[in-house]
Amino acid sequence: MKSFGSKPWMLPQPVLIIGTYNAAGVPNAMNAAWGGQWDMHEIMISMGSHATTDNLAHNNGEFTVAFATADTMVASDFVGIVSANNDPEKMTKTGWTSEKAPNVNAPLFKQFPMTLECRIKEKIDESETGYYLVAEVVNILCDEGYLNEAGLPDVEKMNLISYEPVNHKYITMGKVVGDAFACGKALK
Ligand SMILES: Cc1cc2nc3c(=O)[nH]c(=O)nc-3n(C[C@H](O)[C@H](O)[C@H](O)COP(=O)(O)O)c2cc1C
Repeated sequence: MKSFGSKPWMLPQPVLIIGTYNAAGVPNAMNAAWGGQWDMHEIMISMGSHATTDNLAHNNGEFTVAFATADTMVASDFVGIVSANNDPEKMTKTGWTSEKAPNVNAPLFKQFPMTLECRIKEKIDESETGYYLVAEVVNILCDEGYLNEAGLPDVEKMNLISYEPVNHKYITMGKVVGDAFACGKALK
């Protein structure tokens, strides 16, 4: 085994698209990989100091989290390398369209199959460089075209991408290979 020391190489990492409104109600989006489930109804995100952070400060901490797909990959990367602070045309360049999310004051980008509506509950270690946010998941929205026969989101259909932090790549999620909490029973 080769050793690599300590690096931010938790695998796999998500590609989260965080949607917020600025003070004038203009939508913005940024890419975040350092996030995950925190508890049953909460998620966490490591939030740096961005236009998004300013938006969250005056917006009751409300935002959306969409999951990036192969189709939205180029624009999803773009919103992660360009700040709305430096490019007023940032969102126009993505080609994404949005409407206000039903339960939070944040944009719902229509190009994504599934989106969480969230509200910040707690900021941990807040400083001028950012904070770790814990947010309540107020609601989950899924495009009806991505539901399975049971009426649940069909994640396999979404062609989601994952961020691969070792070589800085995006990787598509593959096919279902087994049933969780079940296939292991074969070894009981
Ligand atoms: C693959 C990728 C992952 C990223 N992960 C995070 C993250 O977890 N937390 C964060 O604060 N910024 C993250 N960023 C950086 C922000 O997305 C970036 O600074 C963005 O331009 C901020 O946009 P804004 O200033 O318009 O809000 C990531 C960027 C990329 C490309």
